[in-house]
Amino acid sequence: CHAGASSFHESAEKHVTGKAAYVDDIKTPTDALHVALGLSPVAHGVLTKLELDKVKKAPGVIDVITFHDVPGHTDIGPVFPGDPLFVDQEISYAGQCIFAVAATSLQAARRAVTLAKLHIDEQPASLDPVAAAERKEVVRPTHVQQRGDWQEVLRTAEQIIEGELFIGGQEHFYLEGQACIVLPTEDEGVMVYTSNQHPSETQKLVAEVLGIPFHAVTVEVRRMGGGFGGKETQASPWACIAALIARRTGRATRLRLPRSEDMRATGKRHPFHNRYQLAIDTKGVIQGGDITVIGDCGYSPDLSDAIVDRAMFHADNAYSLGSARVTGHRAKTHTASNTAFRGFGGPQGMMIIEAAMDDIARQIGEDPLTVRKRNFYRDGRDVTHYGQRVDQRQLLHTLVETLESDSDYWARRKAIIQYNANSPIIKKGLALTPVKFGISFTAKHLNQAGALLHVYTDGSIMINHGGTEMGQGLHTKVCQVVARELGLDLNSVRISATRTDKIPNTSPTAASSGADLNGMAARDAARKLRERLFDFAAKHFAQGLDREGMRLEGGMLIAGIGESEQRISWGELVQTAYLNRISLSEKGFYATPLIHYDRSIGQGRPFYYYAFGAAIAEVSVDTLSGEYQVDQVDILHDVGDSLNPAIDIGQVEGGFIQGMGWLTSEELRWNDNGVLISDGPATYKIPTFGDLPPIFNVALLEGHPNSMASLYRSKAVGEPPFMLGICVWSALRDALASLTNYQTSPHLDTPATPERVMLAANALREKA
Ligand code: MTE
Ligand code: MOS
Repeated sequence: CHAGASSFHESAEKHVTGKAAYVDDIKTPTDALHVALGLSPVAHGVLTKLELDKVKKAPGVIDVITFHDVPGHTDIGPVFPGDPLFVDQEISYAGQCIFAVAATSLQAARRAVTLAKLHIDEQPASLDPVAAAERKEVVRPTHVQQRGDWQEVLRTAEQIIEGELFIGGQEHFYLEGQACIVLPTEDEGVMVYTSNQHPSETQKLVAEVLGIPFHAVTVEVRRMGGGFGGKETQASPWACIAALIARRTGRATRLRLPRSEDMRATGKRHPFHNRYQLAIDTKGVIQGGDITVIGDCGYSPDLSDAIVDRAMFHADNAYSLGSARVTGHRAKTHTASNTAFRGFGGPQGMMIIEAAMDDIARQIGEDPLTVRKRNFYRDGRDVTHYGQRVDQRQLLHTLVETLESDSDYWARRKAIIQYNANSPIIKKGLALTPVKFGISFTAKHLNQAGALLHVYTDGSIMINHGGTEMGQGLHTKVCQVVARELGLDLNSVRISATRTDKIPNTSPTAASSGADLNGMAARDAARKLRERLFDFAAKHFAQGLDREGMRLEGGMLIAGIGESEQRISWGELVQTAYLNRISLSEKGFYATPLIHYDRSIGQGRPFYYYAFGAAIAEVSVDTLSGEYQVDQVDILHDVGDSLNPAIDIGQVEGGFIQGMGWLTSEELRWNDNGVLISDGPATYKIPTFGDLPPIFNVALLEGHPNSMASLYRSKAVGEPPFMLGICVWSALRDALASLTNYQTSPHLDTPATPERVMLAANALREKA
């Protein structure tokens, strides 16, 4: 049950029996208000007049608020300004919030919203990120990373290969939508219950919107029914709106977005348009080149600077680019502001170099796996285009060699070539793709965490930390850390909710660093408390315990060894310490060492370490209809010394499937006016049970601890496996390439829906 063991998720039983409480399960007083929102029906325009008289007079309506009712800040941009809480005049996307109605029932509030009369001077919407970037319509300035004389390398290249790719966005589709409940407190403040990855930021924004000090606002998050990045910044507006109403009316206020409004009002994974031009030698090894990524940021900066940066940091994935320039544009369009989503731009960056690997293989007539392996980071080719040396690069080779032999890659390759030669319509494809993902927030100050540990006089323990639980098992891991440090059973340690009045100024639970940071802070608290108890025990107990070599194990304090070993139970130790007025509470803190990045020159060591992985997909494609299935997936993933193998494997499986969905079936569609028309499960297809590969082998790489001094030498697992899903897309391209006897590299934008696969097949048949 200690760190390193496969214990159940702390809420596993509650999850499956329906007892786990989410925001909507929280009971409120019978006079609680329900909020419905008035959202813009157009993507771009000017609100010239807003008629709300009928709304205000509608049955059950208690309050109606607009931009002009905000007493404090009206802009809630998380890093840079640009996100008005309500539309004042300018409308920037369809789904932007114009007003809010609070009524005695949800139905009454929703009915009232429809009575509003909006006068909008509609203007053409800008929806093409490439055109926007060319016109220099950007939410943030372009950033460049470069290393070596890439121009000279391109000039003198033996061969140059070029390509481009559109990569679609992704809806978070967290099962629990955006939701919050706000209670007015007896002073000027509020108590906020929210489904939220970043409670401290919501505390700050609610306080600023209300114009009150931060200490008047408390934010609590027990758990989320999924966040995936979609509740890092975009859970805050709803809390701010509900807080305004709660303060104005003095009543508890509930706000939960219906699914279709959630999908229209909130941002998604950024769609990207990427290009590469690479110099290669005759073996297909990259000598250098030029890569450009254009992120479609939507209407405002939100987190896009860091997201496009992370796309740039991962445009190499596992391969040395040699002398290279990577440029990242942040295009502004009239859609919701695109935001964090598992991988944070990294997946979109990696796609361009994985596309290039397949293209190089077709050009030089070798197997894509051979080309990938030749390009891996290795001794002598071990520094990224942003100047960080790739530590543990050997793991890429170890992972891939193990996976290729355990899954019989070459035998299957042979069988597939034979099969395809005899099968004109159904074509099989096979691909192995690696992942190298940098771990740390690239905004350095976010790499810190706090924890608060209380021991009660019955020996039971409450640990709080700044991280939030969204299903990823963070609380389980942190409890395991405390249990391990104090030599106790996991049942003695409990985490309640994440609260801003327990741990202040926290970072979002994001960048996969929840356990790395908060686990370290909890360990710090537990170790400090343990040392204090040891000091006390050495002095206090009559038998004169040996301070040196004192330890906590199996619910006992143990001193001395062999004959002279003495034991005191945890319960007695805690009781005695209490009676002797020894504090049984401790706080912990952690800040990641070593990391730095100088954005003015695009060079540094932004990541404390890298996590690695590799995956193989085998697919069958009907090249007439474009329909396909994933027949087999084999994964080997690096989590250092796992904190909890059961939970980590769950993260690898879930991440992979979510990544596969992004690249295959999940298609965001807007109409020509910029209104999202894929706004529910009927039109937006996440993977279902039936999409799971029938053979799905997932293993963690063992015996390779993190080379950095991370939490018990573990590695983060939340995001890296997402990008393993790229092998499915690459396998689809492989199947298609067989139509030209592997001479041509198919163009296949994502998501690779059956339609896109069919069109790609048709294009290849014309060429062949
Ligand atoms: N797993 C579940 N079940 N639900 C989630 O919302 N979010 C992912 C990942 N795994 C998520 C998840 C994302 S985007 C991140 S950044 C990490 O979990 C955050 O948690 P961690 O830092 O504790 O790994
Ligand atoms: Mo995860 S995208 O960093 O919340």
